[in-house]
Amino acid sequence: MFVTFEGLDGSGTTTQAELLRQHLEEAGRDVVLTREPGGTELGERIRELVLGGPEISPWAEAALFAAARAELVAEVIQPALERGADVVCDRYLDSSLAYQGIARGLGVDRVLALNVNAIRGILPDVTFLLLVDPEEAQRRSGPPGDRIEREGDEFLREVDKAYRELGSAFAGRITMLDASASADEVAKEVRDRLPGLS
Ligand code: TYD
Repeated sequence: MFVTFEGLDGSGTTTQAELLRQHLEEAGRDVVLTREPGGTELGERIRELVLGGPEISPWAEAALFAAARAELVAEVIQPALERGADVVCDRYLDSSLAYQGIARGLGVDRVLALNVNAIRGILPDVTFLLLVDPEEAQRRSGPPGDRIEREGDEFLREVDKAYRELGSAFAGRITMLDASASADEVAKEVRDRLPGLS
């Protein structure tokens, strides 16, 4: 099973990915938890470049995220799925579709086309989209830590809208959850919606 978590910074993707990993491990499953951008040596270096560096052009940004993702799929995700492990990933393809495709205006289809070879056609079985008001997300995530978080309120609202559009467009794969509840309550929702668990 390949599960991803998506949402604004401050929506709780990292917490929920970790809680799901714990739950799956307690159920005796082999689990690999990873994150984007990052999760590999190259990915962590790209993370520094894309989030820590100066302003870069939108397609360079999209291509760097896709490169980090290609490495993560080749080195971590595909091998884990092939040996029968579960993979839980904090952000994946939909982050690029929301942030670069819609909020940056590059186009969902074009960003999808950029990524499709990079991910070797490996799509998540289930994607949990954690929805919180942008203001609440900002409050939770505290002062902006990276270049994308410093984009400001309007960009944040664009990303929120973008995620909701993706949630409707890919309703079969993406499960939208109200993430304004406590972490434990959201985690329970996640477990309830995963077939064969809970
Ligand atoms: P994240 O790792 O969630 O941030 P944090 O360091 O707070 O844990 O994500 C880093 C930022 O990168 C986040 O603002 C979303 C953005 N991002 C994209 O714009 N496109 C992508 O494809 C990915 C994976 C992340």
